[in-house]
Amino acid sequence: MSSRPERIVVEAQELPHTAAAWIANAILQAIQETGRCSIALSGGKSPQPIHAELAAAFPAIPWDKVEVFFGDERAVPPDDPQSNYRMARETLLAPARVPDANVFRWRAESPDLDAAAREYEAALCARPFPPRLDLALLGLGPDGHTASLFPGTAALAIEDRLAVPVDVPALAARRLTLTYPVFMEAREVFFLVTGRDKRAALADVVRPGSTLPAARIVHRTRSACIFCDRDAAQDIYPPA
Ligand code: 6PG
Repeated sequence: MSSRPERIVVEAQELPHTAAAWIANAILQAIQETGRCSIALSGGKSPQPIHAELAAAFPAIPWDKVEVFFGDERAVPPDDPQSNYRMARETLLAPARVPDANVFRWRAESPDLDAAAREYEAALCARPFPPRLDLALLGLGPDGHTASLFPGTAALAIEDRLAVPVDVPALAARRLTLTYPVFMEAREVFFLVTGRDKRAALADVVRPGSTLPAARIVHRTRSACIFCDRDAAQDIYPPA
């Protein structure tokens, strides 16, 4: 697949396989061109059925050639139910037998989150550049956040670091997140957006003048594609 349409709207039950097929294709394309692929996974619930489909239905992916990063992480240990790493391990990394050496986990349990972020940035910088990421998977929050780039947080203005800790007052929680410079130079960005609660944020984000955190990535990266179900897309693609 050479050029990707900007938005792919499918029935909710089709989204896991459709998105997984595009992700598999992007991984195989990067490996064909460079011999390897680096992907950043998203957290939250939306990716889970897509991960399961990717692990179950695409055995041609040579995971030994794929480096797996995480777009963000909660400041919790890796076995915490809130951990994005734990979710990815259970839904994709273990079922697909991704080699542990290929998985770059944030040390989110560290008491020094800034040191953990700097360590993560160093792992990312060990990648050939550009791009550090061949594919970034991102979700969308109802407030327009993506990764842990939340409205009103300091991380939105950071241009001189690739990975930072961030306080999220709206959640009364600390997070770790990759910053805009990483996502903006990724070869491809796929947004995975499902459910009615994303309808307003998605309708705003796709507007060229949107000021929501995800909008900057949607409109200004080289190739951003939005996979959404009809519930989320209701306001941008009203039913025929
Ligand atoms: C996280 C994610 C976050 C997520 C959105 C959507 O750590 O939670 O990185 O940005 O993608 O909040 O989450 P859902 O898919 O659960 O709706």
